[in-house]
Amino acid sequence: EDRVFKYYSDGEWKKSSSRKSVSIINPTTRSVQFRVQACTQEEVNKTIEIAKVAQKSWAKTPLWKRAELLHKAAAILKEHKNPIAECLVKEIAKPAKDAVTEVVRSGDLVSYCAEEGVRILGEGKFLVSDSFPGNERTKYCLTSKIPLGVVLAIPPFNYPVNLAVSKIAPAIIAGNSLVLKPPTQGAVAALHMVHCFHLAGFPKGLISCVTGKGSEIGDFLTMHPGVNCISFTGGDTGIAISKKAGMIPLQMELGGKDACIVLEDADLDLAAANIVKGGFSYSGQRCTAVKVVLVMEFVADTLVQKVNAEVAKLTVGPPEDDCDITPVVTESSANFIEGLVMDAKQKGATFYQEYKRDGNLIWPLLLDNVRPDMRIAWEEPFGPVLPVIRISSVEEGINHCNASNFGLQGCVFTRDINKAILISDAMETGTVQINSAPARGPDHFPFQGLKDSGVGSQGITNSINMMTKVKSVVINLP
Ligand code: G3P
Repeated sequence: EDRVFKYYSDGEWKKSSSRKSVSIINPTTRSVQFRVQACTQEEVNKTIEIAKVAQKSWAKTPLWKRAELLHKAAAILKEHKNPIAECLVKEIAKPAKDAVTEVVRSGDLVSYCAEEGVRILGEGKFLVSDSFPGNERTKYCLTSKIPLGVVLAIPPFNYPVNLAVSKIAPAIIAGNSLVLKPPTQGAVAALHMVHCFHLAGFPKGLISCVTGKGSEIGDFLTMHPGVNCISFTGGDTGIAISKKAGMIPLQMELGGKDACIVLEDADLDLAAANIVKGGFSYSGQRCTAVKVVLVMEFVADTLVQKVNAEVAKLTVGPPEDDCDITPVVTESSANFIEGLVMDAKQKGATFYQEYKRDGNLIWPLLLDNVRPDMRIAWEEPFGPVLPVIRISSVEEGINHCNASNFGLQGCVFTRDINKAILISDAMETGTVQINSAPARGPDHFPFQGLKDSGVGSQGITNSINMMTKVKSVVINLP
């Protein structure tokens, strides 16, 4: 199949006047699967202009009606789960079952957002003046939450649908309009998801989706004066965006190097199962993947043996067959992973499997005795390669975790809850999971990174709040 999919603006599907397209390469076949429009800056301007107008009347639409439309979109999205999942399989090589789960999870997220929105936006505050020194009770302050305007959403390739709706739904329930720039890999799945919002009957221009080359419209979008908020998930591009963006709220999630600390008293079967799930699901292409295991020397041999036994069970192959390990998203990504593996090999890491690659498909690898001079100790492979560092004290583990420029999540395995809490407090990450692999969900939990892992906090409630401003009206009594 080789078609050029239209972009979505002003409630209509359009061809770009550029007459150019961007190719989406199937990671498995490495040939062109789909093409999308290469939108021009002029088309971006037009889309943002329309979004600005559409937002004004949307903000006046009753909150319950906004919620009703979101519930409708959620239901339609779930009905379309199979065709959307098929796109995810072809565009980003997500295992078939996980692709369906992503869409269903997205429908649930949209519904939850509608419910949460009517509650938190249905409430304001009432303050009186005489609590502050020098004031009489002559001022009544009423606060409510008002929308920001046009929200720009930029999700990454690994969740083109879920990390798009996690930005769209909060923006829309809060009375904003939204412009989506999907990742190239996953753009067609995203367009199909946008079609579900179209079918739900949102006003024209309220939600739009522009596709194209980052070099042509990337900076143009993020620096656009008509954009009032950016919600971005992805790599270090986010750091560049935050330097260039104007005085607008930013929500950024930029990856991680999530550490898994395993203590001597840990349930090693539980730890091993979570390390493999956390390290290798979607072939390690998750910001919250376990990206380094820091295990106490005393239990290291046993743990590594158990992890290896689990790794051996992973199936490797095409996403259509629902294999655990599927081709990584692009050739350049596979090359980058290979670079990290070769560096570790050269510097003497212990390989439990032989390094094997066919095209973008990389067989799962567990590297033991990794040392801090190896790149894999610090960099995120975003692939099915997991380094193990043996530690002789808990402090050593915490220090390694905190020396990272990332600080997304981390996890600790121990049966001692007091130690778990102390270690969680000491780890400089946005979230610490006790006795489980890192994960963003459930989607209403707060999700945030420290340091280079991002700014702001996501999760349904936090996103809704972040996409609003407080407005006060003060009644002055005589
Ligand atoms: O990589 C994206 C990040 O948001 C991870 O999400 O659900 O895989 O923990 P999840």
